[in-house]
Amino acid sequence: MDKKQESFLDLVIYQIYPRSFMDSNNDGIGDIRGIISKLDYICELGVNAIWLCPCYKSPNKDNGYDVADYREIMDEFGTMEDMRELIREMHSRGMKLIMDLVPNHTSDQHKWFVESKKSKDNPYSDYYYWFDKPINDWRASFGGSVWEYVPERNQYYLHSYTIGQPDLNWDNPKVVKEMQDVVDFWVDMGADGFRIDVIDQISKDFENGRNCFGPNLHKYINLLFGREKTAHLFTVGECWANDIEEIKRHIDADRNELSTLFQFDHLEAGRSEKFTPMEDSLCTVRDILVKWQTLTGQHGLLYSLFTDNHDNPPFISRAGNDKELRYESATCIATMFYLLKGVPFIYQGQEFGITSSSYDDMSYFDDVESFDMFNRLVKQGYSREEAVQKINFGGRDNARRPVPWSNGVGGGFSEAKTWIPLSTRVNEINLENDLASEKSIFRFYKDLLSLRKGSKAFINGEFAAVSKNEDKYFVFTRIFEDEKFTVVCNFECESDIDCTEFGTLVLSNYKDRFGTEKLFRPYEIAVYKG
Ligand code: NOJ
Repeated sequence: MDKKQESFLDLVIYQIYPRSFMDSNNDGIGDIRGIISKLDYICELGVNAIWLCPCYKSPNKDNGYDVADYREIMDEFGTMEDMRELIREMHSRGMKLIMDLVPNHTSDQHKWFVESKKSKDNPYSDYYYWFDKPINDWRASFGGSVWEYVPERNQYYLHSYTIGQPDLNWDNPKVVKEMQDVVDFWVDMGADGFRIDVIDQISKDFENGRNCFGPNLHKYINLLFGREKTAHLFTVGECWANDIEEIKRHIDADRNELSTLFQFDHLEAGRSEKFTPMEDSLCTVRDILVKWQTLTGQHGLLYSLFTDNHDNPPFISRAGNDKELRYESATCIATMFYLLKGVPFIYQGQEFGITSSSYDDMSYFDDVESFDMFNRLVKQGYSREEAVQKINFGGRDNARRPVPWSNGVGGGFSEAKTWIPLSTRVNEINLENDLASEKSIFRFYKDLLSLRKGSKAFINGEFAAVSKNEDKYFVFTRIFEDEKFTVVCNFECESDIDCTEFGTLVLSNYKDRFGTEKLFRPYEIAVYKG
C-alpha cells in the first residue's frame, strides 16, 4: 500500500443521512443545524470523518440522489451558511468531511436537463443520452423502462433510476468539465473527500448491454480525481465489482483514481436480491471477508469495512439476532468488521443497535425502491401481507427512519410529525435507553474504536485467518512488528475454542469472561493481546 492510502487507515467514518439524523427546527425533517448539534456526540464515539449523504437542492424523487443544483443546499436542510458553519465546526474538531458526489445523473429539474430537453440544438442538448428510439429494453432500477419520451425533442432520454434522474452523457467533454468544477467547488468549500455514487455507471457499455464499466470509465475517473487539485482527497466509489482485476483498475495507487471502493460481496452474500434472508449468514460473510482481506492484503489495496448504509437495513436484523441477543450480536458484528484491515464506516444509529421495523402496511413506507419491489412481489403471486414482510426485511426505509435519540417526543428527533414514521421499536431502542443500560452498544463501540486506534497492529498490521470455513466462528490475527492481537468472534451457537495461546484478554462482550475460557456463548467475542 502506498503512503497516501496508508494514511487513510486512520480514518473512522460516520455516515449521516441528513433527512433522518436530527431535526433542529421541528419541521419533521433532519437538517444541517441538527448535525452541528450532534458533532460532540459523534466525536465522542471515536470518529474522525463524516460522510454526508446528498444535501444538495433536490426535488427528492430519490431523497437527494436527484440533484437539481450541486452548489445549493436543499431547502429543508438549511442554507449554504449552515453548511459553512458545519464545515468550520467539523474542522475545528479535527474531523474530515466526505461529500456525496452524484455524477451519473442529475434531477430532471436541474438547469442542464431543463435546457437539454427543449431542443436538439441548444448548448446543453448533448449533456444527456438522447435517442430517436429506445436502443435496448433495459429496466430502470426502480421500475419501468430506462427510456422516457420527451415530445419537445421527439426523442427518448436514458434514466437508469427514476424518470426524474436522467443519466448524464460523460462522453460529452462539457459534462466532464462541469463535474470537475463541482468537485473543485466543494474542495474550495472545505471538503476532504468524496463518496461517489454509482461511479461504475458514468461510462456505459451499450455494446455489451451494460449501463456500467464502459470503455472510458477509468479515463473519466482519472479526469475527476487524478488532478493536482484533487490528489490529496479521500475517495470511495460505490462500485458493483467483485473481481480483483476490475477492483485494481479503480484503486491501485499508481492509477490516480480512487482510494477505495464500496463493493457489496459481503452484503449480497450469494443472494440475488436483498429481500431474501441469507443462509448461515455470518459464516458466509466471514468467508467473504477472509477472501477480500487476503486479496486486498496481497495487492496492497485499501478495503472498506461496512455493514450498514442508507440502502440496506440494519445488518443486525439481517444477519444477527436483533431480539434477545441484540447487544451480543451487534457487538460481535462490529468486532468482526472493525478490527479488520481497512477503513471503518459506521452508519447513524448503528452504534447503539438500531434494528429494522415491522410494519404491516405500505402506508408506513416512503422509498421508491420498496414500492417497486412490493408491486413486483404482488404480481409474482405473493399476498399483500407477505409482500410487506419482505419489504420489512429488505427495504431501504429501515435504514432511513429517524434516529431515535431519546424517550422524548418523536424519539428526540423532532417534535413535529416526522417525514417518515419512526421505528416500530423506538420506545425500546434509542440512545437514551442504550446509555442507561449495563449493556450499552455505544460504550462497546467506543471501547472497540479506541482499541483499534491505539494500536499499530489494528491500523497497519497484517491480517491472517485462524478459523476454517467449516467453523461456526471467526478467529483472526492482526500483527505489526512485535505486536499481535487475536480476535475471536463466535456466532449464534455455543463453541469450544482453545484460546490458551492467545495472550491477555483486552476486550469482551460478556462481562463474566475473565481470560481464555474455552466455552464461547452465542455471539461472544474476545480480543487477546499476546
Ligand atoms: C446509490 C445510492 O446509494 C442510492 O441511494 C440511490 O438511490 C442510487 N445510487 C441512485 O443514485
